[in-house]
Amino acid sequence: MASHNPSLGIAILGAGLFAKEAHLPALADLRDFTVLRAVYSRSKKSAAELAKDAESILGLKDLAIYSEDSEGLDVLLARSDIKAVIVALPITAQPDVIRKALAAGKHVLSEKPVAATVADAHKLIADYEASYKGKLIWRVAENFEAEPGYRAAGKAIRDGKIGKVIGFGLRGIGKLDQSSKWYKTPWRTIPDYQGGFLLDGGVHSAAVLRVVLPSPLTHLSGFASLNKDYLAPQDTIFSILKCADGTQGSFDLSFASPANSLGEKVNGTFVSGEKGWLQIENAKNDAGKGIIRTTIHKVSGTEGEHEETEVIDVLGSGVRSEIQSFLFAIVGEDDGLGLGEPREALKDVAVIQAALNSNGNLVELASLLECHSVQPGPQSKLQYCLPPRKAD
Ligand SMILES: *[C@@H]1O[C@H](CO)[C@@H](O)[C@H](O)[C@H]1NC(C)=O
Repeated sequence: MASHNPSLGIAILGAGLFAKEAHLPALADLRDFTVLRAVYSRSKKSAAELAKDAESILGLKDLAIYSEDSEGLDVLLARSDIKAVIVALPITAQPDVIRKALAAGKHVLSEKPVAATVADAHKLIADYEASYKGKLIWRVAENFEAEPGYRAAGKAIRDGKIGKVIGFGLRGIGKLDQSSKWYKTPWRTIPDYQGGFLLDGGVHSAAVLRVVLPSPLTHLSGFASLNKDYLAPQDTIFSILKCADGTQGSFDLSFASPANSLGEKVNGTFVSGEKGWLQIENAKNDAGKGIIRTTIHKVSGTEGEHEETEVIDVLGSGVRSEIQSFLFAIVGEDDGLGLGEPREALKDVAVIQAALNSNGNLVELASLLECHSVQPGPQSKLQYCLPPRKAD
């Protein structure tokens, strides 16, 4: 999109925290390429609140508002000046809205997770691939996948900086209080989807492993538990993972930490290899902005006695990167990074679903992905099995 294309009209469907705090600032950075033409929320009140924020952040006037108690979603989707929508609705409300938007001829960027379960994701992906793929773009917004800092860590490994990978560990141990603004989102307080915050937040961590590790995850065994009743159904998983190339590692997530100091101490990801190791952590730069810091330790000497470190600091910009990539793809300038591919986002849901249900048993992620979990329903089971992806 070398030239200005402010005629690329978009709408935001959903008026929650993330739309306000992440999508609007990203759209402000991208205002040379796109213009927000409308916002939709179920209630008129929240749509109007988001519109107000959008007007001040983006310098717009009289943004069109759609809600179920006035002009609804169908009216918005009938507008020919809106080419694409960003969907940021409650997790279980998203698939129907994604289908509606595609049916109305809109390109879609929908927030992670791709769906609440592997089975629901299969159905949605099958519908997209059968009817719209090649004509309309549907991407899943997974900002950790798009985060340049994680991609840089993955590239360092693929470039051989730590040699052949041996093992890894990812820990995200958080304290989530009832007073948290995220907890107070009604659909998050009492989730109607598996795993609660472990799905909602955990797919981000699974995406980090997907971007960083050179070989895809194939097996998982673990345990899940509930430690703080208000976080039901579960708030903690401890699991072990294996990759196709034999690499093994651990994947531990909890929102039941007694104190933030625990996460400050132990959060992060390490990958060890035959010639060194690296650590990925969240940090702040001198200006106080969030960065992803990868510290690479290159080991040499006959007994590994020499260690040389290299630090890669990258400013956090996942949301802007994923939206920009989506907009460029719409105008035929795909960056080729493969961001937001629904089948890839599906893998993150599979990792979490496996960890929630393993109960110590070995779960083959491939068989979970080949739709073994799809319940026989009114439509035949086979209809929702994804054909194997062609070798690239
Ligand atoms: C640790 O990770 C958890 C889970 O991703 C997150 O909620 C929490 O904010 C993190 N804590 C710190 C201090 O980074």
